Amino acid sequence: MTGTRIELVVAAVEEAARAVRTVRLRAAEGGPLPSFVPGSHLVIDCGGRANAYSLVGESIAPDEYAISVLRVEDGAGGSAWVHGLEPGDRVAAHLPRSMFPPIAAATRHLLVAGGIGITPVVSHLRAARLWGRDVQVLYAFREGHGAHVDDVKELAGDRCEFFGDRAGFAERLRTVLTEQPLGTHVYVCGPGAMIDSVTEAATEAGWPASRIHSERFGIDALDPGDPFQVVLTETGTTLDVPAGTSLLDAIEGAGVAVPNLCRQGVCGECRIPVSAGTPLHRDLFLSDEEKQACDAIMPCVSRADGPSLEVPL
Ligand code: FES
Repeated sequence: MTGTRIELVVAAVEEAARAVRTVRLRAAEGGPLPSFVPGSHLVIDCGGRANAYSLVGESIAPDEYAISVLRVEDGAGGSAWVHGLEPGDRVAAHLPRSMFPPIAAATRHLLVAGGIGITPVVSHLRAARLWGRDVQVLYAFREGHGAHVDDVKELAGDRCEFFGDRAGFAERLRTVLTEQPLGTHVYVCGPGAMIDSVTEAATEAGWPASRIHSERFGIDALDPGDPFQVVLTETGTTLDVPAGTSLLDAIEGAGVAVPNLCRQGVCGECRIPVSAGTPLHRDLFLSDEEKQACDAIMPCVSRADGPSLEVPL
């Protein structure tokens, strides 16, 4: 292990559901791996690009890091690369990063998952069992596509419900949102449309934003954003960044190189300083404190919160 980098070796690969594989990774040098906060990501180098995957295994001094990956046929190739892994293959990764942690002060944790969005929920459930936390799970998936169903049943017991149809899920969700004790936090992970509908239903039911937590899958879930301008102070250029064009694309288009790897806001490679203006952070890399400092941005996914930004490039 060097810095935040870690060398892993594939210990096992299992079919978890249709098009979903669970890959179990151990430390290449042997021994336990660093603990992580439940709901964390592992960012792995997928043959030239970096992708983030939620960890689904035990989080305290684990023997392995397990990820369950849905093969996305029209994706950028990261999931296909993971699906090609075999026992014995080496994998370079960054140490796990906490992105979707359970709130320690919550009286109950209402966990809502759609499809492969179950992965961080499994991690939350393992921690909930360990610490005796009160949980309730609603898990929607298409028939044959449900990963970790047995894990959820084992970890949540009679506190889980499964749904194969949207209408039934939406109706039950509305009821469940009105039945929670004060101090419950809701966590939702799944496709962007599902996250939006759960957030909307919770807001309509009177839940404050501070008790609604969501995790989106990388850049696919991001909206095109509003247009803004970026001033490159070193080169003395002002660029337009239209909606749907990333800040990174705009800077590269002006002939200024910025190192990058994932272009999804997960690897940290494209980080650049900000000298004026407020960033609209949409990455999964910077910590909350770093985001609040407003002095750096991941231009592959993040934009300006306002008409313009200045960067010393
Ligand atoms: S290129 Fe990976 S975070 Fe931007």
